[in-house]
Formats: sequence, C-alpha cells, structure tokens
Amino acid sequence: MNPSQPIGVFDSGVGGLSVLKHLVRVMPSERYVYLGDTARVPYGNKSTETVRMYSRQCAEFLLHHDVKLIIIACNSASSVALDTVRACSPVPVIGVIEPSAHAACQATRNNIVGVIGTRATVGSEAYAKAIAAEADHAPVRVVSQSCPLFVPLAEEGWTAHPASRAIAVEYMKPLRDAGADTVVLGCTHYPLLQDIIHDAIPNATLIDPGYYAAMEARTVLASMDALHPDQSVPKTDIEFYVTDIPATFSQVAKVFLGFDVAAPKQAVIDDHSR
Ligand code: DGL
Repeated sequence: MNPSQPIGVFDSGVGGLSVLKHLVRVMPSERYVYLGDTARVPYGNKSTETVRMYSRQCAEFLLHHDVKLIIIACNSASSVALDTVRACSPVPVIGVIEPSAHAACQATRNNIVGVIGTRATVGSEAYAKAIAAEADHAPVRVVSQSCPLFVPLAEEGWTAHPASRAIAVEYMKPLRDAGADTVVLGCTHYPLLQDIIHDAIPNATLIDPGYYAAMEARTVLASMDALHPDQSVPKTDIEFYVTDIPATFSQVAKVFLGFDVAAPKQAVIDDHSR
C-alpha cells in the first residue's frame, strides 16, 4: 500500500459529509474520495439485504479508486453491512458504530445510554450489541429510538425550527423517561440537530460518531504506517462522487461540511454483484 493513496468514504447520500468534516479536521493532510449514493438514498428504511448489496457496490467503487482505507460513514450501512464490506475489501474498513459505542461507555455515569437512528440502525440493534461487547465495562442499559423525521428536517435546514423542536421533544421522551445520561447521535444527519436534541434532553452527553470514527481511522492508519507522508500541508483534497446529482447538492453539502465543495462527479455503480 502507498500512504499517498486516498481514504475512501461512502454514505447513502450527503449525510456522510458530517463524518467527512471530522475526518478532514483530524487528518487534514489526507486525500479523500467521497461517494454519496444519492440515487438510492435513503438506506435507513430499506431491508438489510438491499443495504448490504448497495454497500458492497459502493465499496467496490471506492476500491477502483485505489483507496487505502474505507470508512462507512453511514450508520445504517455500518449497522448491517460492516461484515459484508470487510469480506470484499483488501483494505481496512471502519464503520461508525464501534468507536462511538466505546465512547458512549466511557461517557455514561449511570450506565443508561440512549441511541437514536434510522429504523434500519435501531432495528439492527448494532449499537446495543457493540455496547454490550465492550469488555471491562459494567452492563449498560440501551434505550433506542428511531427518529425518521430528523433526516428530512436536517436536509431542509430546519435545525432550529419550532416544528423540529417539538418533534425532538417527542422523540427524546423515552430516553428522558429512562434517565439516559448519554445519547449516541446514530445517524449522519443528527449532529446538525444537536442543539435541539440537547434542549430536549439537557442533561445528556451527546456522542457524535463521526468524530470517533475519524479518530479510529487515524489510529488504524498510524498503526499501519499509512498516514499521508506529507503531513505539513492541509490539503482539503476531496474528490466527490454521487450516483445522482441533485440540484441542491452544493447547498446541502455546505450545510453538512461547513465549507464550499467542488462540483460532484457522476459515479456509475457497477450492478454486477446483484
Ligand atoms: N446516512 C444515513 C444514516 O446515517 C441516513 C440517511 C439514510 O437513511 O440513508 O443512517
């Protein structure tokens, strides 16, 4: 492997840019290839089999771009397709679940952790399993809640809208009632809504999986001696691919990333593995 190769990142659409934002902060000297499967978004309400097939195809696309590491920036795909992607990848694959499950266990004081995500993520119980697998930790009670309305609200930019606030209060009710002191924002879109989520459950520590996945990626690359050799210059070298170019891409991408992005290129996903 050549350490100058890019890091591959994929998501069901633009949401993974909230993960890419952390990657760029944590490893500013790396090159990135980002694939958003905008033609087939959302993954969060699709079946496990479909999400696995889509995820494998996204990974194959990135591997054709000679990536040295794959990050599954999508919680739904990480929940059900991590093993599938690992099985087809000669390079290491990092999902967003395990690093933040570990962080949640470190953060909780009363061992009650809330997990919010799409229906696919919550239904898979991937976070609950990853938290239960944390060795050397007292048993943690996990309270999960799917919040399907959050994705369109975030994309609409309704991050502080009264309607979004009311929905957040409703969604957080089971977590408040259970006394969760830590909440994992288990969907790429939820960090954008963290202010209203915080207001709806004020005493809880919010865990943003993108940050912990970025830290894990740096650790993995460092352990392989595969960090980009030129660490002196921050590059922001990102190649964007999407499977469909939505008219609002640049606008929405800026909201997620915090800076303007180059126009995306059209990705053609190979459907041979169907
Ligand atoms: N990126 C997805 C996730 O993190 C949210 C959007 C979707 O449902 O595809 O679960």
